[in-house]
Amino acid sequence: MGFDTIIRNGIVATATDTYVADVAIENGKIVALGASLPAQNASAAIDASGKLVLPGGIDVHTHLDMPFGGTTSADDFETGTRAAVFGGTTTLIDFAIQYKGQRLRQAFDTWMSKAANKAVCDYAFHCIVTDVSGGQLAEMNDLVREGVTSFKLFMAYPGVFMLDDGSIFKALQTTSKNGGLVCMHAENGSAIDVIVQQALAQGKKAPKYHALTRPTTAEAEATARAIALAEMAGAPIYIVHLSCNDALEKVREARDRGLPVYAETCPQYLYLSIENFDAPGFEGAKYVFTPPLREKWHQEKLWNGLTRDHLQVVSTDHCPFCFKEQKELGRDDFTKIPNGGPGVEHRMSLIFSGGVASGRFSVNRFVELTSTTPAKLFGLYPRKGTIAVGSDADLVIFDPKRKHTISAKTHHMRVDYSMFEGIEVTGMPDVVLSRGRVVVDRDKFLGRAGQGDFLRRSTYTQTK
Ligand code: URP
Ligand code: ZN
Ligand code: ZN
Repeated sequence: MGFDTIIRNGIVATATDTYVADVAIENGKIVALGASLPAQNASAAIDASGKLVLPGGIDVHTHLDMPFGGTTSADDFETGTRAAVFGGTTTLIDFAIQYKGQRLRQAFDTWMSKAANKAVCDYAFHCIVTDVSGGQLAEMNDLVREGVTSFKLFMAYPGVFMLDDGSIFKALQTTSKNGGLVCMHAENGSAIDVIVQQALAQGKKAPKYHALTRPTTAEAEATARAIALAEMAGAPIYIVHLSCNDALEKVREARDRGLPVYAETCPQYLYLSIENFDAPGFEGAKYVFTPPLREKWHQEKLWNGLTRDHLQVVSTDHCPFCFKEQKELGRDDFTKIPNGGPGVEHRMSLIFSGGVASGRFSVNRFVELTSTTPAKLFGLYPRKGTIAVGSDADLVIFDPKRKHTISAKTHHMRVDYSMFEGIEVTGMPDVVLSRGRVVVDRDKFLGRAGQGDFLRRSTYTQTK
C-alpha cells in the first residue's frame, strides 16, 4: 500500500483520546491510524515524535473583507486564511451579510465571490439576516439546503443590523423547523444607544467610552431574552462572542435546565480587560470591539466556564482594522471607530497556553473547544473536527513546549498592530496540513491561494 504522506510517531489528541500513533493520508483524507504503519511506500514522511498531532482548528467567527463602520476589514480571504493556517486553524466560518431589502441569496453570492480563488484553507458561511420582511424566512430554508445552515442575528447596532424581537422570534421558529442554528449577537442595542448619546452630549468621546457605554447588564439582558425567545420557538441557540460573567450565568442557568443553548467566547475576553484602555493617547482604539472589554475579574470566570462546559467554543471574531488608516476614523468620536480586532492567527496558541500549559484543562478539552464542538454544532463533523479514518487530513503537528512572543512584527495578519503584543505563549504549530497538503512548515508558507474549498454544511447536531 502506498500512502501520500505518513505522519510518524506523534501524540494524537482528539476530544476523547490521547495516544501515540502514525497517521496515514491519501487523497486528502486520513486512511489509517495505528502503531508502526508501513512507511516505506509513502511519498512523504513527517516525523512528529514528541509533538502533538491535533485536528486542524475551526474558527467559526471571522469577518474577512467585510464592509463595516465606513471601511472594510483589512484581511481578505487570502491574507486571512493564510494567517489562520499559520496559527493552526484550517477551517473558517465567515459571515455573508444580507443588507436590508436584499435577498439572502444576494449575500451568499457576494461572499462566495469574495472567497473564490483566494482562500488558502476550507471555509463556509453563516448568513447575517437583517430584514425578514420580504420572503427571507422562506429563503432561510433554501440556504439550509445549500449548506448555509446557520444565521447570525443582531440585538445590537440599531438602524444597521438590529432586528426586533418579533423578527428574531420568526427566524427562530424557522430554524426550529429547518434544522438551522441561530447565532445571536446579544446586547440590548436600544438601551446602549441611549447611553452612547448621553455620553457624547457630555463630551465623552475617547475610545474607553466605547466600553463604558456598553454595560455587562445589557449583554446579560439580551442573552436571557435570546434564550427565552429560542425556548418559546423550540429552537437551539448559540450566543456569539460572550464577554462577561453576567451573560455566562444566563447561559449556565439555561443549560442546567436542559435547553439546547451554546455559547462561544474569544481570546480577547480571556486575556485583555478594560485596563487596556489606559494605553496612551488614541491607542485604546486598538481594543474597540463589541461586546467590549470588561473588568479583569471576568477573565477567570470565562476560563472556568470553558473548563466546566458552560461555554462550548472559542472563536476569534477576527475583524481587523489598521490602527493608522482605519481606527483613525474615530479619533474625535469613539462611535466612529470601526469595531473589531485581529485574532485569527493566535487563537490556538493562546487557548493552548492559557488552558493546557497553565493546567486549567486537558489537551482533549482544548481540541473539543477549538475544533470538535465547532464541527459538531455547525454541521462539519466528522469530516472536520477529529482525527479518524475517513476524515479530512486537516492536521496540526503542534509543539506543546515551544514558546513564542506575539507581535505585529512577526504575525501574518494584514494589520499594523496586535491586540496581544508582547504576550508569551507556550505551544505553537510546527507543521500544518490542509486536506493532506502541507501549507505551513514552521515559518514557511507552502500553501496556495484558491486551494481552499467552500464547505456545504449539514444541519446542527446537538452536543452535550
Ligand atoms: O466588534 C466586532 N465584534 N465587530 C464585528 C461585528 C460583530 O458584531 O461581530
Ligand atoms: Zn457580533
Ligand atoms: Zn463578529
